Amino acid sequence: DASGELRAASQAQPNIALIKYWGKRDVALNLPVVGSISITLESLWTRTDVHFMPGQKDDRVSLNGRSDQAETKRITKCLDLLRTRAGVDYGANVASRNNFPTAAGLASSASGFAALVHAGARALNLDLSLEEQSMLARRCSGSAARSIFGGYVEWVHGKLADGTDSVARPLLDANAWPLRVAVAITSTAAKQVGSTEGMNRTAETSPYQSAWIDTQEADLSVARDAIRARDFDALASISEYSCLKMHALALAAQPGLLYWNGATVECMHRVRALRQQGVPVFFTVDAGPQLKAVCEPSAIEQVKAALRDAPGVLDVLDTGLGEGARAIATDL
Ligand code: PMV
Repeated sequence: DASGELRAASQAQPNIALIKYWGKRDVALNLPVVGSISITLESLWTRTDVHFMPGQKDDRVSLNGRSDQAETKRITKCLDLLRTRAGVDYGANVASRNNFPTAAGLASSASGFAALVHAGARALNLDLSLEEQSMLARRCSGSAARSIFGGYVEWVHGKLADGTDSVARPLLDANAWPLRVAVAITSTAAKQVGSTEGMNRTAETSPYQSAWIDTQEADLSVARDAIRARDFDALASISEYSCLKMHALALAAQPGLLYWNGATVECMHRVRALRQQGVPVFFTVDAGPQLKAVCEPSAIEQVKAALRDAPGVLDVLDTGLGEGARAIATDL
């Protein structure tokens, strides 16, 4: 900044994939076997302050006021990518806060690493395009590539072996089609099988892996058209299809990956019952038991009430679609 301090802070929000990412073609570089399409959320956020300290050897990390060794290691690996580009070798003080429960299947790693790359690059005065930031965020956590951008976003597969072209790109602004999202929290327990391990097991053992890869391009194309045309029904059916297909793929791994609990399934039925009655809503579920219901703004109260009322639902969050990563004041 102007004082010569190597410091900056950024905010980023989680995103939810409608056309899912599942499977890596390169684990070290986090390159996906398929492209994916997501929406970036609005009112759930991560805010991260990065301060590089000349003379300091290690990174010191505070996440929601606590330090965690495993997370610090991941953050150091991510900051190393920025340090290499800037030609500096000293540690940083990192303070990060989420306003939503971490490790509850709400992709805190997506908003977390998008905010970290966005703030870290500015702290080091690296002049990186958003696509370059997306590429670096991808290497830290795959889905973080998408949280650099707001609204409707596609993370493309890419052709190059070094992954420099596997980046996210904006498809449509949030305010051009302001859908809403209700998140039904059905468990606050930490994940049993993380996405990297789950993807690995699926690739090694699921007999549906090649069918998953072969059919993704068609789904991406249908979703792109639906978003371009703001066609809710088309987006609803392709999104539920992609979600259930990803889970079918994972269920067929050995041992099978069963990310749902009873409340997740109950919420799926309720969302489908609402849609049958003409309410514009569809569901999606990631590698955890929370259910995300995406709807037209006019339907949000009805959707929230139906989910809140489902046995086993602990809480229902509600958000619109938001912007990509952006600068905020330091000293959160
Ligand atoms: O990037 P990761 O490791 O958080 O994996 C994300 C996997 C899913 O959330 C299930 C799908 C997706 O595209 O976000």
